[in-house]
Amino acid sequence: MSFRFPDTFLWGGAIAANQVEGSHTADGKGLSTSDIQPMGAMGALVERVANDFNIKDVAIDFYHRYPEDIALFAEMGFTCLRLSIAWSRIFPNGDDAQPNQAGLDYYDRIFAELEKHNIQPLVTLSHYEMPLNLANEYGGWASRDVISLFEKYARVVFERYGNKVKRWLTFNEINVTLHEPFTGSGMARDVDEQTRYQGIHHQLVASAKAVKACHEIIPDAVIGNMMLGAMQYPFTPNPDDMMQTLTQNREWLMFGDIQVRGYYPSYMTRKFKELGITLDITQDDIESLKNTVDFVSFSYYMTGCASTDPEHAEQANANMLKMIANPYLKASEWGWQIDPVGLRYILNFLYDRYQLPLFIVENGLGAKDVLNENGEIEDDYRIQYLNDHLFQVGEAIQDGVEVMGYTCWGPIDLVSASTAQMSKRYGFIYVDRDDEGNGTLERKRKKSFGWYKEIIQSKGEKLKVNN
Ligand code: BG6
Repeated sequence: MSFRFPDTFLWGGAIAANQVEGSHTADGKGLSTSDIQPMGAMGALVERVANDFNIKDVAIDFYHRYPEDIALFAEMGFTCLRLSIAWSRIFPNGDDAQPNQAGLDYYDRIFAELEKHNIQPLVTLSHYEMPLNLANEYGGWASRDVISLFEKYARVVFERYGNKVKRWLTFNEINVTLHEPFTGSGMARDVDEQTRYQGIHHQLVASAKAVKACHEIIPDAVIGNMMLGAMQYPFTPNPDDMMQTLTQNREWLMFGDIQVRGYYPSYMTRKFKELGITLDITQDDIESLKNTVDFVSFSYYMTGCASTDPEHAEQANANMLKMIANPYLKASEWGWQIDPVGLRYILNFLYDRYQLPLFIVENGLGAKDVLNENGEIEDDYRIQYLNDHLFQVGEAIQDGVEVMGYTCWGPIDLVSASTAQMSKRYGFIYVDRDDEGNGTLERKRKKSFGWYKEIIQSKGEKLKVNN
């Protein structure tokens, strides 16, 4: 590729506290909603009992091994690491009067280590978890009280880390509550639509309050939102399918529309009316929402199709995102359809809509890696996936889209969010641990490690044209 990515473009990877850290009760940490999901976001909620097993209790032991891992990221040339703070390390119950000092100290050490290697942190305030006590005692985000508890937590971490962290995100995949309310917002899975949207509203207000607090406390920082980019294409050019596609895309775009524009889009009025929903929106909420984000970020793994045809609609109901498989695309071993051109498309689409800088904060291939006879991992499939997606990012930049950076998901193998598997591997770095928790936790560079290093070094010039 003759194109070079801009010098300011950030290159790196993304991880989340509950999928890497382990040490789930260390140094005063409280239990989080993730700690009762031993089978992942798609599995059952299981009450904790003594000596039970949750693979995330150790995860990949990033809690202790972060110096080694960050050194490996630096070796690849990372200029950015996206990570999350576990809210329950800072406020173990969510409603504690004072923050937990040991939890605050831990992230001081992490940010110092990143600084040592000139890696800029991009920090998510809440990535698929919240203190369990808030889910149990308040009903999660269904309660308006959680807004001020979150704001307090956000202010504490902005004050504490503001000198080192200049890029922030509020909620990971804020639209996920539509699909998995417990993971997204600590609400019961069978929550009714009225409560679900009220909880989402509370979260949107809390996100805007965090934006305000960030601007006040760290004037030279930027803060963005984070959406699961669930881009859908019409299954056919039938106008009914076009309309259906617009409706389904608005389900996730609603979040960006509010977080970027500062108010509910007009199409939601009809939707709420049809669903019989009346939200409790205060004057303070309306004012708070006006604190809009500085940039837009999203995760990108796949695209899908929408249709009104009942036969296809039935197929769509079988997956979490309710998307119909695109006959032109292949899928990963987990059925996630691979669409590199879709990444160029969504970048252009979001830039046309918002005219704000965009950040791709997750993208990657979950695959089963097998060690060859020399004990090495030749993950050419991962190289191909990432090459093809990054090539399309380059195309989008040339289309005129302002892209701040790219942090691929799971630069080191970690626990899968949806299924809690270790065997669904995303990393450039292999971690010796299986789904049952066996293994030494030893780290090993895969073939893709050297490949990514070369891509970063060449600022994308070494990317191959994909076809
Ligand atoms: C995103 C989440 O939805 O997808 C991550 O933000 C998650 O936490 C990633 O790990 C990949 O999903 P999975 O289920 O393969 O881990």
